[in-house]
Amino acid sequence: MARLALVTGGARGLGAAISIALKDAGYRVVANDVNEESAKEFTAKTGIPVAIFDVSNFESTKAGIAKIVAENGGPIEILVNNAGITRDAPLHKMTPENWNAVINVNLTSMFNTTRNVIEGMREKGFGRIVNISSVNGQVGQFGQTNYSAAKAGVLGFTKAVAHEGAAKGITSNAICPGYINTEMVAKIAPEVLKTIVAKVPTGRLGEPSEIARTVVFLAADEAQYLNGATLSVNGALAMCG
Ligand code: CAA
Repeated sequence: MARLALVTGGARGLGAAISIALKDAGYRVVANDVNEESAKEFTAKTGIPVAIFDVSNFESTKAGIAKIVAENGGPIEILVNNAGITRDAPLHKMTPENWNAVINVNLTSMFNTTRNVIEGMREKGFGRIVNISSVNGQVGQFGQTNYSAAKAGVLGFTKAVAHEGAAKGITSNAICPGYINTEMVAKIAPEVLKTIVAKVPTGRLGEPSEIARTVVFLAADEAQYLNGATLSVNGALAMCG
């Protein structure tokens, strides 16, 4: 039977492209989202089921993942930690609520999901964990102390999981997208976005499909030796490492 993949935040934006690409590559895919409306629309359009749970909440995630495993008769073998939000403001205007929301959804979610799939992967002797970080976790960004901190934390988490998983057939890698053509980026003020795109040597935003194909590459059975890596997909905006 085809391997089972879970994509968090998988019914919208980047996550939707990732869910579709994994399905097209032959995997059984379950997307996760918190928004029932967009979930229904996504399933109607793609045939991909969406599990509704909040990845920033451990108990909700634990129950959601247990249900997916029970319904699919086996463990999640590919986990794509994609769910993320922004709450941009310069530090001198940043509220504790906006700090905590971004840390919880973008970083603590990594623990909540991975903790609840890792035992199944260890038993199976196989796992592919792909964590979506960001160029702004590598280089920082004005107005994103919360987001940059969370996304940099994702890179450390990814590497520690790689150390722990390698001997059990589990890989853990991160992708750092640059500015991708999604709703999240569309929220940036046009004059600000213009200055950002002007710095991208490729001269345009990335497309969600360009991140999705990188996920499919990392998810492959043949990608066993590619472990603990950070892949930058940013149109040469920043070359880190
Ligand atoms: N660099 C340097 N200075 C900047 C600046 C920048 N990027 N943006 C604003 N400033 C300056 C302003 O000109 C202003 O200067 P003065 O006080 O001298 O007038 C000062 O900083 C403060 O600016 P504001 O009070 O106007 O700040 P604000 O409250 O309006 O917030 C902001 C500004 C919304 C954070 C804006 O800077 C911004 O949108 N920055 C980009 C954030 C960004 O890139 N987000 C990415 C979202 S998408 C994503 O995150 C996906 C991914 O992984 C890449």
